[in-house]
Amino acid sequence: MKPLADRIALVTGASRGIGRAIAVRLAQDGALVGVHYRAERDKAKETLDLIRLGGGDGFLIAADLAEPAGVSYLAAALLGELRTRRDPPKLDILVNNAGIDDRKSIEQVTEADFDRMLQINFKSPFFLIQKLLPVVADGGRIINISSIAARLSFPTMPVYAPVKAALSTLSRVLAVHLGPRGITVNAVHPGATSTDLNPAASDPQRSGAIRDTVALGRIAGPDDIAPVVAFLASREGGWITGETIEASGGQGL
Ligand SMILES: NC(=O)c1ccc[n+]([C@@H]2O[C@H](COP(=O)([O-])OP(=O)(O)OC[C@H]3O[C@@H](n4cnc5c(N)ncnc54)[C@H](OP(=O)(O)O)[C@@H]3O)[C@@H](O)[C@H]2O)c1
Repeated sequence: MKPLADRIALVTGASRGIGRAIAVRLAQDGALVGVHYRAERDKAKETLDLIRLGGGDGFLIAADLAEPAGVSYLAAALLGELRTRRDPPKLDILVNNAGIDDRKSIEQVTEADFDRMLQINFKSPFFLIQKLLPVVADGGRIINISSIAARLSFPTMPVYAPVKAALSTLSRVLAVHLGPRGITVNAVHPGATSTDLNPAASDPQRSGAIRDTVALGRIAGPDDIAPVVAFLASREGGWITGETIEASGGQGL
């Protein structure tokens, strides 16, 4: 019996990078996975193809989380999917992974940059959790993908880092609020991971400087992060809540 058999999961931002790896891994572990994406349908379809290749299954949902309306749309579309599969509709695992980075110093950040980062990286996950709480199963899991940036000080992340810290703090607050329902809420802090969001991590010219700050001496790939999320989603991870788990190979220690 697979550890997540009969579970339904939603992974936001699963068309690429870390979200794709999480979606594929949760499906390998037996979950039916909602593969959310913004615009890259072909990429999201590739994620679903990988899931099916591994013997799993899932479904696609598009929504732009830069818009408050996108959160409502995503929640409604998910509810529609859940209704076709379960009565009453229930979601077991919510992974808030979708995110953006925008490397600028404080002098360069515009108010529009600030609002966009806040919306996608904090307001959207916040209100997605709020809207989905009625259908999150008792004993369910909420896993927020935050960042090592919440602990380290990168001068080009004056909005990203504090916003990620807010997402981690929200996880702790909700862990207490949702404890009586047996729902665990945790934050995962990836370190530098080779994806589109972090081009320096895959650039031979620039990645050496990052690698030198990592105790385990290499740059992560998305597959280094996904098992941590899968563990938190599993029955075995059920006694962990309100925690921040750093998955960075010991970056910046
Ligand atoms: N890579 C790193 O070094 C690193 C380190 C620490 C934390 N993280 C965090 O890990 C998470 C995943 O990052 P990643 O590196 O995998 O990024 P990525 O490869 O750039 O993928 C980002 C994902 O988020 C989705 N997304 C972006 N803007 C969106 C919007 N407005 N509405 C809905 N979805 C949107 C994208 O969808 P489309 O493909 O449709 O655009 C894509 O699926 C993020 O929260 C990031 O902050 C990453």
